[in-house]
Amino acid sequence: MIRCALPSCFERFFKYNLLYMEKDLARIRVNALAEIEKTDTPEAVENLRTRYLGRKGILTVILRSLKDLSPEDKKKIGMKANKLQEEITALFDTRAGNLQKTLRESILEKEWVDITRPGIRLEKGHLHPITKITREMIEIFSQLGFEIVEGPEVETEYYNFDALNIPEHHPAREMWDTFWLKQSSQGGLSVQSDLQSSSGLAHRNSRLLLRTHTSPVQIRYMETHNPPFRIVVPGRVYRYEATDASHDVQFHQLECLMVDKNASIANLKAIIHEFFSRLFTKRVVIRLRPSYFPFTEPSVEVDISCLSCKGKGCSICKKTGWVELAGAGMVHPNVFKAVGYNPQEVRGFAFGMAIDRLALMKYNIPDIRLLRSGDIRFLKQF
Ligand code: FA5
Repeated sequence: MIRCALPSCFERFFKYNLLYMEKDLARIRVNALAEIEKTDTPEAVENLRTRYLGRKGILTVILRSLKDLSPEDKKKIGMKANKLQEEITALFDTRAGNLQKTLRESILEKEWVDITRPGIRLEKGHLHPITKITREMIEIFSQLGFEIVEGPEVETEYYNFDALNIPEHHPAREMWDTFWLKQSSQGGLSVQSDLQSSSGLAHRNSRLLLRTHTSPVQIRYMETHNPPFRIVVPGRVYRYEATDASHDVQFHQLECLMVDKNASIANLKAIIHEFFSRLFTKRVVIRLRPSYFPFTEPSVEVDISCLSCKGKGCSICKKTGWVELAGAGMVHPNVFKAVGYNPQEVRGFAFGMAIDRLALMKYNIPDIRLLRSGDIRFLKQF
């Protein structure tokens, strides 16, 4: 502000200045009101508040210059300026409050969630019936003191046939229609040596095949363990044969082998009986039929009275009322010799049970091929 030495000049200048200050205040008020009205966000209100009332704000500059006025004018303009400051402060507060409220309401409206609405039910997966029944079977055999053992699905001819007393050209090989594997000079050899190295022995018949039964694991286990022991071997097996309601090209077996000094066929029968009554939680009728397997002597087939038709005759039991579930017998002396045991000192029984056929009985499934059909409508029922 310019100070003049002459009182009259000072007075004229000051009146002029005072007049403009009053006009300025009126203009500031009109502008502030209009601008506040136009703000549409709380941030815009705060920016505008700084423009008017901040340290270098439009109104603040005027308020600061009041100190240069005469006490009388200071009082006059000061009162107006303070009133204006209070007025627009209140307007800023109200506007900011209203905009905050609107913002909150629109957020609430946009993000509103009905917490009482029922949620979307997630579909739960479940185990395949073969996995379910295999786990149950393993559980029962574990309770009966059996160890669980596994073996390879790609097997050598030696373990699948030779060591089980089924020499080349023996007619018994025709009992199992086999998938033979083509062997390339490199890949094939490495698989072969892996399969042979478990025993450390190099065997003549090392052609590769998909195992036709779980019995080769008997040999693999006995090569590296001494009796007494009892094991069960669950696993997938493959047969190159025509399919029907009770036969598939791929199915599952559970092999059982118990070797001790005095294991007997009576023990075999007792174990099978106990196993079935625990699996089906009721008494089931079984029968042992004389049969032939090159690796057991004597040999039997284990049949169960068909639970699907209660023995009346259906597609599963081929109208006979009985379903063949397992081959069994006392371990042949030649098998013991093949693994280096003395057949005079040990005795053992073994059986190989079809897990898939047990699943047909337990879950009342009319065709074995449904199990591997991948039809979700079928699988959802378990
Ligand atoms: C064997 O596989 C012998 N290794 C069983 C054995 C083990 C005998 C130990 C003695 C000592 P077999 O080929 O019979 O046996 O098959 C066993 C069971 O598998 C049969 O009783 C039958 O229930 C089932 N089975 C056979 N072929 C098929 C097939 N294609 N599809 C589904 N189940 C089958």
